[in-house]
Amino acid sequence: MAKLITKEQMAEQESYIMKLKEENMRYAAQNGHAKLALTETYGCQQNENDTERIRGMLRQAGFDFTDDSNKADVVIYNTCAVRENAEQKVFGRLGILKHIKEERKDMVIGVCGCMVQQEHITEKIKKVHEHVDLVFGTHALYKMPELLYRAIHEKKTVVDIDSSDGAIAEDIPIMRDDDKKAWVSVMYGCNNFCSYCIVPYVRGRERSRTPEAVIAEVKELVARGCSEIALLGQNVNSYGKDLDTDVDFADLIRMVNDIEGVERIRFMTSHPKDLSDKLIDAIAECDKVCKQLHLPVQAGSNKILKEMNRKYTKEDYLAKIEKVKKRIPNISLSTDIIVGFPTETKEDFEETLDVLRKVEYDNIFSFIYSRREGTPAAKLDFVLTDEEIHENFNKLLEVQNEISKRKNEAYVGRVEKVLVDGVSKNDETTLSGRCDSSKIVNFKGDKSLIGKYIDVRITEAHTWSLNGEIAE
Ligand code: SAH
Ligand code: SF4
Ligand code: F3S
Repeated sequence: MAKLITKEQMAEQESYIMKLKEENMRYAAQNGHAKLALTETYGCQQNENDTERIRGMLRQAGFDFTDDSNKADVVIYNTCAVRENAEQKVFGRLGILKHIKEERKDMVIGVCGCMVQQEHITEKIKKVHEHVDLVFGTHALYKMPELLYRAIHEKKTVVDIDSSDGAIAEDIPIMRDDDKKAWVSVMYGCNNFCSYCIVPYVRGRERSRTPEAVIAEVKELVARGCSEIALLGQNVNSYGKDLDTDVDFADLIRMVNDIEGVERIRFMTSHPKDLSDKLIDAIAECDKVCKQLHLPVQAGSNKILKEMNRKYTKEDYLAKIEKVKKRIPNISLSTDIIVGFPTETKEDFEETLDVLRKVEYDNIFSFIYSRREGTPAAKLDFVLTDEEIHENFNKLLEVQNEISKRKNEAYVGRVEKVLVDGVSKNDETTLSGRCDSSKIVNFKGDKSLIGKYIDVRITEAHTWSLNGEIAE
């Protein structure tokens, strides 16, 4: 069982929220408006979910929110370390903030999340970006009120990137982005140590929330009108392995499926090695679980899979996919692919294309390998040149785009249930939402339909989205 942050520890943080609130109320009384906070998220859904907690704590502490860094009194960047470009973006933004802060000395700048959980990054921030007031890692999220209070009052950078904890903090305040859809983290951390990946180093070991805590959160969401639940974890299908009870992820989704008021259940991410028959059965049998599976393959060559420490072969993977397709014929499949892993040859890459052609994913998320300091793969040499890697990347997209378009064309004529997210960016009269398999569906309709489930007849397929009209 994972350790829980104690009630006393949480109460201490609450007392800091109250202290901040008192100060902020005084400020608001004097200035006629509340202090403003800005948050930005770089990274995965887990990070988005963490930012919702950060905003929840800030709101309770009496902050209002802004998107304008010129107006913000507190800026918090929740960062990602998975690829170099995510880190570069944050350093770029910090450069811009430096100029803004020269004009507004009281501004408090915080950087948190995965990137700063790496010591060499925090050292760099302290050296190069002295205008940063607050740095805290993924393990210190629950301590933000105290750290922010200290950052406001102490004249030196407050840093907490301790990773010895690895405990679970329940009941951190939360401010959700969406009324209808919600992320619910069911576990934290990762034990897989894929050789290219920084996540296990910055998120710590796997630890599961109790089923009771997950169910309570889902019930509370439903009571507030939320109906689509996405269960999150770096490797959700190893959920429960560390619990005292013998509940696994298949059991958990059945429990969520039984909750009245839940309409849709999504989950991510699943590791192929842990995809059990029991879980496949649960997806097939639970009426609310979307018939959609994101199953990252990363590469097709057995040599590369071994170097990546993925713990399955191409044949194992394809056999699981076949099993899934047989058990759930209408399943929509997606995957993650890394192109240009060190030691990858042209022949290895052909194996990846072969997987794409055999599986026929609905869509893929593809990434060019990014060297991460401290991971085993960082020591390996490349066979392909940068140019060859980019050529392969383009080839991958070309092969997949044709498949995606073909898969989408099969939807034309079908009626799909769509949860309407909002209006389209370019056209106020076009609504946009997602169907059961998570494909984007655009259709003409009135804004009053936002947040509702609407039956839409699909009329046209594109590579990345579907068009339709409201079904009579
Ligand atoms: N736990 C999830 C998500 C991990 S991060 C999983 O295992 O699938 C999301 C994706 O980023 C990974 O699936 C992988 O494709 C990609 N990724 C991770 N490390 C990377 C690296 N060093 N370079 C490029 N892509 C990487
Ligand atoms: Fe990274 Fe692998 Fe864990 Fe996913 S399973 S987070 S790719 S180490
Ligand atoms: Fe990035 Fe951390 Fe998520 S490294 S992908 S934000 S777990």
